[in-house]
Amino acid sequence: MNDADRLRPDSITTLEDIAVSPLLEELATLIRYHDSRYHGEDNPEISDADYDALVALNKEIEDAFPAQIRHDSPSVRVGAAPSSTFGKVTHSQPMLSLSNAFDKTDIEEFIARIGRFLALESTEPLIFTAEPKIDGLSISLRYEAGTLVQAATRGDGSVGEDVTANVRQIKDIPQQITQSRIPPPDMLEVRGEIYMTKADFAALNERQAETGSKPFANPRNAAAGSLRQKDASITAARPLHFFAYASGTISEPVSDTHHGFLSYLSECGFVVNSLTRLCHNAEELVASWQDINTQRPHLEYDIDGVVYKVNRHDWQQRLGQVSRAPRWAIAHKFAAEQAETTLLDIDIQVGRTGALTPVARLEPVPVGGVTVSNATLHNEDELRRKNIRIGDKVILQRAGDVIPQIVRVIESRRDGSERGFIFPDKCPVCQHPAIRPDGEAVRRCTGGFTCEAQRLERLKHFVSRNAMDIDGLGERQIELFVEKGWVNTIADIFRLTAREDEIASLERMGQKSAENLVNAINAARTNDLSRVIFGLGIRQIGQATARLLAQHYRSLRGLMDACHHAQDNTATAYTDLVAIDQIGVSVADDLILFFADDAHKEMVQDLLGEIQPPPPEQPEESVISGKVIVFTGTLSTLSRTEAKAQAERLGARVSGSISAKTDYLVAGADAGSKTRKAAELGVTILTEDSWRALIKS
Ligand code: IVH
Repeated sequence: MNDADRLRPDSITTLEDIAVSPLLEELATLIRYHDSRYHGEDNPEISDADYDALVALNKEIEDAFPAQIRHDSPSVRVGAAPSSTFGKVTHSQPMLSLSNAFDKTDIEEFIARIGRFLALESTEPLIFTAEPKIDGLSISLRYEAGTLVQAATRGDGSVGEDVTANVRQIKDIPQQITQSRIPPPDMLEVRGEIYMTKADFAALNERQAETGSKPFANPRNAAAGSLRQKDASITAARPLHFFAYASGTISEPVSDTHHGFLSYLSECGFVVNSLTRLCHNAEELVASWQDINTQRPHLEYDIDGVVYKVNRHDWQQRLGQVSRAPRWAIAHKFAAEQAETTLLDIDIQVGRTGALTPVARLEPVPVGGVTVSNATLHNEDELRRKNIRIGDKVILQRAGDVIPQIVRVIESRRDGSERGFIFPDKCPVCQHPAIRPDGEAVRRCTGGFTCEAQRLERLKHFVSRNAMDIDGLGERQIELFVEKGWVNTIADIFRLTAREDEIASLERMGQKSAENLVNAINAARTNDLSRVIFGLGIRQIGQATARLLAQHYRSLRGLMDACHHAQDNTATAYTDLVAIDQIGVSVADDLILFFADDAHKEMVQDLLGEIQPPPPEQPEESVISGKVIVFTGTLSTLSRTEAKAQAERLGARVSGSISAKTDYLVAGADAGSKTRKAAELGVTILTEDSWRALIKS
């Protein structure tokens, strides 16, 4: 609108009219922001209802003051592109997570495990660092010849998002490495945590309240929301900080120890946490933990535990990782925070596998920085064990990221008005019988694919971040597409690409977002096989097992056929399946059961018409690639676990028992019956020395 228009008498009716313009501007910005959270990041910050209220408020004002409607009004925006997402970055080394310890016994076991793995003499000093576990978001910074060239979020650990422009706004992060003692390595990846201080978080939330924006739940969300801004100037205006605590890929080592590396980082201009200590045993570790826990309330930032790391880098290297966590580090968590509240009601949720889970609806209460209004009650036994009644006063607990739980009922506060809860024996969604097999804790809906709740949850799981991870296709979009009847099965998701125009015409969409969505769906057709296997949602098949299966069977059809043949547990397909390391009989049974179901077979068949997942990359090519190896007896230079890990790294498969398929038996001291059996079957038997020579070649 130009000035002449603005001054036309019919467009100014009252003085308020003038005040309306900044309000509409604010609303347009706000709605655009939430659109981008919703579409671009699939991580909405506000509920649908709150979003709708914003849109309605905007509309109401526009209806009252039509002359003030903005050219970029949210109500008339045609195909306005919600911000596109950040570019993807494949980490040169995965960004790992940490396993947890909760008490001294866990720590002692952690230390003992490491000693065993490295086959350490009891006199050999095993030194650890203890450092606060910062509750923020991890980031990987790449420096080339000392200059910051890229910053990426953790993402799923393998692939993160390129947030370089935003990270350049953070003052704790040097653009240039300033260490003068030694020249910077050609390539150095520094990893650490971006966080917001508690004080800055409180101030930011006050500002949010003043502008009518929704407050952030905790400093971590505030830091994440501030970093993941398409417009880096918003990040610049938010007070973010950084602690450096690890390396990623590095072209030449700068220290033999983690502690030495931290000192180097500090010399380079990074901030490293000053509470970091060196510890020599479980007692010293626990003492550090206690010390940090005592300081916790006075620290400027949130922490949720203490991380212990093996100090020697060569040992870290040898220890490697299991699944997605290093063997050389552990997080010793702080006790959970508790609060008291009232149980208002119990709902039953139906999960992806049909499991009926009771969920507590609670009088909202703040616990450890977030307001909690729901908690899981696990299963019907748990309800009985805790003697939970609707109306009870309960103690709620939240530990870190863990879903809030009800610890106990305060029975002394009962006044007789509380009512018991009868667990349903029918699915509340599809009314099919809900059955609890003998010996199992979980009651399950028997509706399978006919149960809308199960179908929806399976679809949501399939597109979730750790599965197909399709940008712009989150839970809400799935709900919408199912409601529209466009998606019924997982294969239908790929057929959405034929509906680009229909998608574009949806509320809160537009041509550009529809196009982005179609591109993302098409890109997912060649997602890793392990993501597809995980996405099928088979019971007991987590990400790690899915990766093992992908590595072993190399195609979805291969896996399906093998499981079909393995229905006969005397068939080689069965022995082959259970011989995969970490796949026991129970996991095998769930797999076989899944693929024995005609509906599942049909579903996978249909899916295969839509996707072409490439087989996983072969592990390092070596003389033992693809060979089946059995270890027996005591090895003198390394532990059995390390030997196994080493063989797997080189592409071999380690099995626990000798069969005709075994290629090598590596026999240490005091090897027993396996040697005899191997000799009978003509399997090559290696001494520890010849094994070492073989893998070196
Ligand atoms: S080390 C290979 N050190 O905790 C180990 N992580 O639960 C890499 N975290 O994703 C992590 N403070 O975001 C390490 N001092 C610290 C940490 C820390 C916080 C986070 C990190 C990681 C998560 C794992």
